[in-house]
Amino acid sequence: MYFDLNYYMICKINDDWPGYSLDLFNYPKHYSGDLECVYIPHGVIMDRTERLARNIMDDLGDHDTVVLCVLKAGYQFCADLVERIKALSRNSDHTLPMSVNFIRLKSYVNDQSTEDLHIIGAEDLSFLTGKNVLIVEAIVDTGKTMTTLLKHVEAFRPKMIKVAGLLVKRVPNNSGCFPDYVGFEIPNHFVVGYALDYNEYFRDLNHICVISESGKLKYKV
Ligand code: HPA
Ligand code: MG
Repeated sequence: MYFDLNYYMICKINDDWPGYSLDLFNYPKHYSGDLECVYIPHGVIMDRTERLARNIMDDLGDHDTVVLCVLKAGYQFCADLVERIKALSRNSDHTLPMSVNFIRLKSYVNDQSTEDLHIIGAEDLSFLTGKNVLIVEAIVDTGKTMTTLLKHVEAFRPKMIKVAGLLVKRVPNNSGCFPDYVGFEIPNHFVVGYALDYNEYFRDLNHICVISESGKLKYKV
């Protein structure tokens, strides 16, 4: 083949996408002045997630699967994705029996990734042995976190590992790590909302937005 078909299946947001004016959508008043624009409206995230659920069902359906949700930012995407897979299991000829587990990774302070990556709650993942595993992540940028996590999970010898990432950021130093299921490929902006945080703020925002410079200053630690 001349091209990788999957490449053309990416929902790509170009560098020149300015986002939507904040006046066009509702968002909590406590964040006024802290945001630049609505980058991906909540409804669009939901629609894309519905399609990802179908793709996952097509690939993994009818086999027991362990969903491994990467906290904290992954909780909303994971919950919505699992919800849509459940709907497909109820309403189609295929089912995807799932158990859901949680691990926590932490590496960001302000908008910078720190070197030391902590995996919390992943000491014993022996329940993954021989299972199909679906890792659910909110965002992949350098891929460092994902690479570390994959190595860790592989050590427990699952039958298959798939990764679903809501967002993949186009960064210059990507380690070549690309999830099997990608919601959106986005430019190198720091985004918040839909459980993505800036120092724990903005998780309570339903759209994915770009944070403003004054927002960064206000919540800096
Ligand atoms: N927003 C929030 N958390 C993140 C981001 C981002 O753009 N990139 C990596 N972690
Ligand atoms: Mg974070």
